[in-house]
Amino acid sequence: MRVRCPAKINLDLHVGPLREDGFHPLRTWMVTVGLYDHLNFRPADRFSLTCDDPAIPTDSKNLVWRVANVLGREDVSIHIEKQIPAGGGLGGGSSDAAFTFLALNHFWQLDFDREFMCQASAELGSDVPFFFHLPSAICEGRGEVITPVRPPLCGWAVLLLPKIAMPTPAVFRRFDELVGGADFASRPQKPREARSSDAMSLLASLINDLEPAAFDLRPDLAELRQSAEALVGRPVRMSGSGSTLFTLFDNPMPAIAAATKCQDGLGIRCLPVPLAVYARGIPPDDPPGEGNEAPRD
Ligand code: C5P
Repeated sequence: MRVRCPAKINLDLHVGPLREDGFHPLRTWMVTVGLYDHLNFRPADRFSLTCDDPAIPTDSKNLVWRVANVLGREDVSIHIEKQIPAGGGLGGGSSDAAFTFLALNHFWQLDFDREFMCQASAELGSDVPFFFHLPSAICEGRGEVITPVRPPLCGWAVLLLPKIAMPTPAVFRRFDELVGGADFASRPQKPREARSSDAMSLLASLINDLEPAAFDLRPDLAELRQSAEALVGRPVRMSGSGSTLFTLFDNPMPAIAAATKCQDGLGIRCLPVPLAVYARGIPPDDPPGEGNEAPRD
């Protein structure tokens, strides 16, 4: 069984003050993007986990290992083909974990309910529950309170992928020092109209509360954002705790042109990607249709 696991971006990310359990309350609008890891599952005599990227751990530090271990069966080998950069704010490890849970549920006919798996996986990482509710959702609480919403009307993003691995806990700690999140409760929810606006209007309304903290830790990322905005002539935002930056487009051709321009001008990997894609490969959940994209407003 071969499973395609998409990355996500946080279009919007509002963060509140540090809770007693060490996490922060969030309100974030996540949407999948067309950049994928692939997981390969094969029957085996004993459990093994391998990855084509030697920088990725294949022991208990890997969420895929932990999901398989919790399920407690040995007779599978899993190979990860890694395309989603680690430490990029794209949820690659979380996506792999969620789809390992779903795939092993199918592979071993465990018959767990999707919502049960979603809640059970929440303690593995704050981004994991989202991946049970593709392709677009508002995530609150620590990340585990999920409200699926229609994806934005604009269908394309350009991802800017600098070779910087941002340490998420350090970004949140710097957020506590710099910002604190005291006005979180009084912020309005993103109105439904935001989802129907064109790329430029939507970009203008997006806020990521972790940007000041991430840019304080890595001023070179702030400079990169500034240069990217000058090159593409539109706002560029950060996903999650960084380091991935993104901007949005209504149509694919301008997205392809902007990605080429940024890659040449900034010397980093830049990808045009569709928004709101699904996973593939776990029967019977594949939605029909070759485009495999979600309905929009
Ligand atoms: O849940 P996850 O493993 O992604 O979290 C990594 C770290 O990010 C946490 O240990 C915490 O420091 C920070 N975090 C947070 N509030 C959240 C999510 C993550 O403070 N809602």
